[in-house]
Amino acid sequence: MSTRSGPEVAVVTGASAGVGRATAQAFAKRGARVGLLARGRAGLEGARTEVESFGGKALVLPTDVAYAEAVEAAAQRVEEELGPIDVWVNDAMVSVFSPAKEMTPEEYKRVTEVSYLGTVYGTLAALKRMLPRNKGHIVQVGSALAYRAIPLQSAYCGSKHAIQGFTESVRSELIHDRSDVRITMVQLPAVNTPQFGWVRSRLPNNPQPVPPIFQPEVPAEAIYWAAHHDRNELWLAWPAVKAILGNKVIPRELDYYLARTGFDSQQTDEPVGPDRKDNLFEPVDDAEDRGAHGAFDERSLPKSYQWLASTHRTWLAAAGALGLTAAAYAARKR
Ligand SMILES: NC(=O)c1ccc[n+]([C@@H]2O[C@H](COP(=O)([O-])OP(=O)(O)OC[C@H]3O[C@@H](n4cnc5c(N)ncnc54)[C@H](OP(=O)(O)O)[C@@H]3O)[C@@H](O)[C@H]2O)c1
Repeated sequence: MSTRSGPEVAVVTGASAGVGRATAQAFAKRGARVGLLARGRAGLEGARTEVESFGGKALVLPTDVAYAEAVEAAAQRVEEELGPIDVWVNDAMVSVFSPAKEMTPEEYKRVTEVSYLGTVYGTLAALKRMLPRNKGHIVQVGSALAYRAIPLQSAYCGSKHAIQGFTESVRSELIHDRSDVRITMVQLPAVNTPQFGWVRSRLPNNPQPVPPIFQPEVPAEAIYWAAHHDRNELWLAWPAVKAILGNKVIPRELDYYLARTGFDSQQTDEPVGPDRKDNLFEPVDDAEDRGAHGAFDERSLPKSYQWLASTHRTWLAAAGALGLTAAAYAARKR
């Protein structure tokens, strides 16, 4: 938790929609000042209105995170207008749903530049400011796919794996330097966000997150929690835990399982409309604010019991110890 007296200053990339949008809300609810980075004006203005309605202060910074100098300029504006950055959340992403054999080199380059290098540039801008103060927390928004890749999303899975490697490396350096700056990666399950309505796709039917699906407020709260605790990683919800651990034990079986199921599970039954637009190179929300939620509200879970357990280990241990003591006492009395 921030130790200075004023409100916390947080930067969220990808703040105009989805998980980033819900994360900006989570910080604003606690009175933070939030630097909002993304490209789409309508989404950014919507995020600003929400942050202010929760009592926070917002700074809208239209930024394409694929450009290091743009990210650096945005960080500078945040510090000038909101104050020293306490927390930097790297959330922005793009993907392409397509078999690798149909992908173009330009698509791989763009996904990597936004989803991986955007995270690197955000981390560099944050470190530049946090290291001299020996204070601050960087949170990478990851995915179970950072460990267990799935078919039809090779560029995105490659980027998430790369973020995981980059983050481990930076963390080791911070520990070597005895720095108090922290870096955490939160590995998400499937989330109900606008992503599936605007991601570039070559699939015949509309893309969907692989169920079970969680509402974006679930990762947003986990990201906020991660920004205020010292954990290497937070694995959010059982599906993510199962995928990450399962891949350590039965990776080849999972290759075959995903070859069988992974094509259908990433599509709905509805064919893609002829006028579908995608957000790979340009935002599609300039006229429309899509908010945090996607089209799957009715199928999405509002909480994760695994996350509650993971973040309340002490309580669980105490409850377990109490239970064991009670059982032992009862056994002695018999
Ligand atoms: N949804 C899931 O099922 C899921 C699962 C696991 C992990 N995640 C992770 O959650 C994070 C957010 O995903 P999401 O589902 O919320 O995606 P989303 O709904 O598509 O939102 C993506 C955000 O990134 C921004 N963005 C895209 N390209 C950008 C660029 N070049 N520069 C700056 N901002 C850019 C978008 O805004 P503009 O278009 O306005 O720029 C938007 O604010 C990602 O890191 C993703 O890997 C999501």
